Amino acid sequence: MVITVTLNPAMDKTIAIQDFELGKVNRVSKLRYDIGGKGINVSKVLKKFGIPSACTGFIGGSWKNTFKKELRNMGIVNNFLEITEDTRTNIKVVDNKNKIYTDINEPGPEITEEELNDFINKFKSICNEGDIIALSGGACPNIPKNIYGILTKLAKEKGAFVILDAEGELLSEGIKEKPDIIKPNKHEFEILLNRNLNSEDDMICEAKKLIDNGLKKVLISLGEKGAILVSNKMVLYGKGLKVPVMSTVGAGDSMVAALIYSMLNNFDDEKTLKFAVATGAASVSLEGTQACDLNQVQSLVQKVNINVRRN
Ligand SMILES: Nc1ncnc2c1ncn2[C@@H]1O[C@H](COP(=O)(O)OP(=O)(O)OP(=O)(O)O)[C@@H](O)[C@H]1O
Ligand SMILES: [Mg+2]
Repeated sequence: MVITVTLNPAMDKTIAIQDFELGKVNRVSKLRYDIGGKGINVSKVLKKFGIPSACTGFIGGSWKNTFKKELRNMGIVNNFLEITEDTRTNIKVVDNKNKIYTDINEPGPEITEEELNDFINKFKSICNEGDIIALSGGACPNIPKNIYGILTKLAKEKGAFVILDAEGELLSEGIKEKPDIIKPNKHEFEILLNRNLNSEDDMICEAKKLIDNGLKKVLISLGEKGAILVSNKMVLYGKGLKVPVMSTVGAGDSMVAALIYSMLNNFDDEKTLKFAVATGAASVSLEGTQACDLNQVQSLVQKVNINVRRN
């Protein structure tokens, strides 16, 4: 089974306001709600790829039932722990006239110690040998920063495979338990290493150190420039594809789904990177956080140029 973890999901409330004015009364012309969060995004793309998955993390309060309903409609297994406080609402103000897009994100609910323990126990009970676990995104403010380390350790003890896509302390603490794959973007990788990475060689050199330390693969995403994949066998650079860009939100999450698809289809490193770069490109060419489908990705895969260097 594939399990995606979203510790601090959000109800994304997108409001369209033509000519948005600060400090004035603004009228909303269009309104939509989408359940959101990085692990959920991974599950949505997997669903489009024909791969079933379960979502876990924390949901609570007034949005709880909407999340459950939406997940059911999408055919994604709901394994969230229900909590007392409200799942947050993130507001996106879309002003198409001035082409200004504003995000207003809430911090998220407070998780009690008992809820945290219940979640860890739930995670332990749903995680099995051979599972693929994607740990994605931020956490509610009072969650310990080593949460991904705790979950990685538990998953690996069960014989599951772990992909970590997080930033800051959640990544630096999580990495201590040696997840199998990490997928930082360049900025997240620089923060992890506490230095600027000025060249591809610099990034490759740092990724190799992590591989020597026990990680299986490091996938560094470089936005429109593409991505670098370092494993214990290969160093590969996949050049980004030129596509019409509608929304870059969730491109990294699609890439995590592409890694999972590649694993389940036994792709080698080269095919994995091609597929991941194509999935990222397919994702940015769709509006909002819409998930790309397999046909869209397959039409792009052949166009990805890979530069191979043996390790
Ligand atoms: N403008 C773009 N044009 C073409 N491909 C893109 C573009 N932006 C992203 N991609 C593709 O998507 C992949 C992931 O993008 P990016 O590096 O922005 O991830 P990210 O910063 O983790 O995003 P997020 O966390 O918001 O999902 C890139 O490696 C690339 O293949
Ligand atoms: Mg990302």
